Amino acid sequence: MRRAVMIGTGSALPRRQVSNAELARTVDTSDEWIVERTGIRNRYVAGEGETTSSLATEAARNAIEAAGIAPSDIGLIILATATPDQTFPATATIVQAALGVDDCVAFDVQAVCSGFLYALSVADSMIRGGSASHALVIGAETFSRILDWEDRTTCVLFGDGAGAVVLKAEDGGDRGVLATRLHADGRHNQLLYVDGGPSTTQTVGKLRMKGQEVFRHAVTNLAQVLREVMQDAGLTVDDIDWVVPHQANRRILDATARKLGLPAERVIITVDQHANTSAASVPLALDVAVRDGRIKPGDLLVLEAMGGGFTWGAAAIRY
Ligand SMILES: CC(C)(COP(=O)(O)OP(=O)(O)OC[C@H]1O[C@@H](n2cnc3c(N)ncnc32)[C@H](O)[C@@H]1OP(=O)(O)O)[C@@H](O)C(=O)NCCC(=O)NCCS
Repeated sequence: MRRAVMIGTGSALPRRQVSNAELARTVDTSDEWIVERTGIRNRYVAGEGETTSSLATEAARNAIEAAGIAPSDIGLIILATATPDQTFPATATIVQAALGVDDCVAFDVQAVCSGFLYALSVADSMIRGGSASHALVIGAETFSRILDWEDRTTCVLFGDGAGAVVLKAEDGGDRGVLATRLHADGRHNQLLYVDGGPSTTQTVGKLRMKGQEVFRHAVTNLAQVLREVMQDAGLTVDDIDWVVPHQANRRILDATARKLGLPAERVIITVDQHANTSAASVPLALDVAVRDGRIKPGDLLVLEAMGGGFTWGAAAIRY
């Protein structure tokens, strides 16, 4: 059986860190409120010259180096983002050019915070279908550029960054993507959205969210999709070494783990340092845990995310 095996991970963050205390100097909020309600202590914010494509390119270079392949080996680049450099061309093609990959398939996927799960699932299908032997799957965002910095209910929650993985087609063996599950329910698209766009306002717009309602849906949907993907892969909670969740809010992570009976110490948490980096959050957390030695070859991982749309998804992977 052909599988997409993860052979390298990488990530990138902007230079500038912004603590809760620094935010509280310009917004009516406090470190105590943000930590208690979200678990966030710090976020990174892109500065001059830093863009979604520049962060994505740096993360991709790190993943390619970790994988020990040449950029020219890559036949497929899928980049998940809701904050592309431009409306078009796809940011994936900007990354392709920056990496010096002459000819490959390259496109963006837009599923907001679940974008990386959507991109991973598409790449897995294309690899198993034989369209590429090496794929680069990236999640990269600069949400700081679509935040309303006067809206304390949203601006404290998000940050910028990028994460990437290299997938390789391998026949036989038990490593690789075992199962993926995706969902969308467009009835809820007014709970989390951006109030602009090329075809409506001809502006980029700002992020708007009804936080409490999103919270409620998130816990239910994430617990459901985690159960589904474990069932598809023939796994129980006891088989899982690490859950690598979308990093939106510490309370969502804790509530979801409790619902599934998952011990908190098997959940990778970076939301305190990075805040919510949307499509970048899962590959960023994954790279942190691979590089600090927690995630080891052979470990059973479950990745999950939920975002605007709503969209949500999960993947079971033997690393
Ligand atoms: C946004 C979120 C942190 C708010 O937490 P909450 O416990 O639901 O808080 P509420 O919205 O009920 O607000 C409580 C109070 O805090 C205030 N508040 C909101 N943001 C604040 C801030 N940054 N600092 C201080 N006070 C704030 C509110 O105005 C409200 O005040 P009021 O009672 O006087 O009206 C929480 O709902 C959440 O995380 N939701 C999910 C968001 C998410 O993960 N989205 C991304 C999914 S991809």
